[in-house]
Parts: sequence; structure tokens; C-alpha cells
Amino acid sequence: MTDLVKKFADADDYQAVNWDRVNDAIDKATWEKLTEQFWLDTRIPVSNDMDDWRELDTDHQWVVGHVFGGLTLLDTVQSQDGMQALRRNVVTPHETAVLNNIQFMESVHAKSYSTIFSTLNTPDEIDEIFQWSDTEDFLQAKAKTIVDIYRNDPDPLHKKVANVFLETCLFYSGFYTPLYYLGNNKLNNVAEIIKLILRDESVHGTYIGYKYQVTYDQLTDAQKQAQDDWAYDLLYNLFDNETNYAKLVYDQVGWTDEVMTFVQYNANKALMNLGKEPIFETTASDVNPVIMNGINTTTSNHDFFSQVGNGYLLGQVEAMNDDDYLIGLDEDAQDDKKKGDR
Ligand SMILES: [Fe+2]
Ligand SMILES: [Fe+2]
Repeated sequence: MTDLVKKFADADDYQAVNWDRVNDAIDKATWEKLTEQFWLDTRIPVSNDMDDWRELDTDHQWVVGHVFGGLTLLDTVQSQDGMQALRRNVVTPHETAVLNNIQFMESVHAKSYSTIFSTLNTPDEIDEIFQWSDTEDFLQAKAKTIVDIYRNDPDPLHKKVANVFLETCLFYSGFYTPLYYLGNNKLNNVAEIIKLILRDESVHGTYIGYKYQVTYDQLTDAQKQAQDDWAYDLLYNLFDNETNYAKLVYDQVGWTDEVMTFVQYNANKALMNLGKEPIFETTASDVNPVIMNGINTTTSNHDFFSQVGNGYLLGQVEAMNDDDYLIGLDEDAQDDKKKGDR
């Protein structure tokens, strides 16, 4: 036995992730769903929205910019802290793989707002938006509440609750704006990015909610009660803060009440993802139909690049052959090269 082998003789063996032995079929199904719906912000032609953007008054432009500033902060939380926190308590190795996928997509989400900013806003405006999102009290309180649970709460279930509340509820005060414009046939490419993000968040929230329920179901009644009390208490605190955040952002355009109705609707959905009873009377029929219409649009078509819609397709794959390496050579040179190869 070598010294190295001896050194680790008593340590647990490290296990390779085996996708041919999957204990939880939901891991595999989620992996497949998420990889199938992979997308990148750079493929959406946001500059086509410039005419719509110029028609907005400064108050509405402010709302769009700062709402996206807030969303950038939340996706940064998810990409930098969220998945890392959840990864510490996985039950299966495939769950780690799914969380890795989610973590990367959260980075794509966070970056995609910069793609929007760099198209619609001036460099000075962009600096001001980030200055705002890095310091605004209600926004920071929302982010810090979640991050504190991710970093310091020892209960793995609490981390999942925080995650689902963020994924399925807290983002939606921000999503309201692009969905509103989408419903009015404005800023369609910006909305396309948001719809792709929404489609991801919907899978993320459902998956983490499911993982929560698997562990929760094994608890005693008293433990379940304690978990419920903790979760509802957190939601009330976050909802209270969200009301202040919505006022700050939306009072100037008169949308605050409608935004909070939408947040209530999504708070109920977050609770349902966790297998818990909703707390608000609000249903889909209470939400502005323009917004629900935006949410329900599952596929849209761009006139010149239709595969970047919500029906985004991965490129067709074919096996490579020798001719694929002749890029950049003119036809005569290609013929010479082919003859030479034979
Ligand atoms: Fe995200
Ligand atoms: Fe997410």
C-alpha cells in the first residue's frame, strides 16, 4: 500500500454519479426539462424594442430600468448563494447535477438584464440603476433576508422555503412590468427574455418545492407544525416588505395595487409548490387579464429568428466529417485539399 492510499484508507469512498441508477425519477425528468429549455440572452434581438422604448415617458422608463435592477440583484443571490446553499443538503447525486444546471441558468438570468440595459439605457443610467439596486433599503431587505437563511440557518428545509418564496413569489413584482408591456404588444423582445426566465423559474420552484415535500413528509406532526409556522411567518414578513417595495417602485405609475394582487397570486403558488395551503383569497381571475395573457403565452414568433421564442429549439446536430474542417478555404483550395487527403 502506498503512502497516499494509506493516508485515505479510512476515509469514505468518493462515488461517481451514475445516471443509469437514478433513485428519484424527478431528478432525471427535471434535468431533461431544464437542458431542453436551455437558452442564452444574446440570441434575443432586444434592439428591435427601441421604438417602443422611446415612446415611454421617463416615469415608465424609470420603472422598467429599476425593476430589472431589482431582478438582477435577486438572480445574483440565486446564482451566488442559493444553489450553493441547497447543494449542501442534497439527498441524491443527481440532485446536485440539477442544482448545478439551475445555478448556471441563474447566472444567465442575471446577465440577461444587462443585455437589456445595454440596449435600452445609457451608461450613466446603467450605473445609476446598479447604484440603486445595491443600496435600496426594501430591495436589500428582501435579498438579505433570503441570503441570511441561505448562509446562516442550519435547517435545510428553511433554505428550500426561502428559495421557493424567492423563485415563485418575490420575483413577480418585477416580472409584472415586462408582462404588462407584452400584454400591450410593447417591448416584445424584452418580454421574450422575461418569459424564458419565467419558464425556468417555474421549473426551479416546482423542483425545489418537491424536494422540500419529500423531507417534510417524513417529519412528525409537531415538526410539521413548527415548519409551517416558520414558513408562514417568513412569508408574512417578506410580503410586508414587498408591499413597501412595490409602493416605492410603482406608485409613480399607479400600478401598486395591481402588482400586489399579482404578488398575492404568486405567494399562493409558492405555498402550493411547498404543499401548503394558500393564504390569500386572490385567484387568477383577480389578476389583470393583460398580465395573465402575457403569462399564458407559451410560444411567440420572431419574424426573422423564430427559434428564439419560447418555442426555442436547440440546433440540429449531425455527425462531423472531414469536409467540416475546410472552412475558410476557397473552392479550388478545398478541391486540392480533398484530393491531397485521398
Ligand atoms: Fe432566475
Ligand atoms: Fe430560479
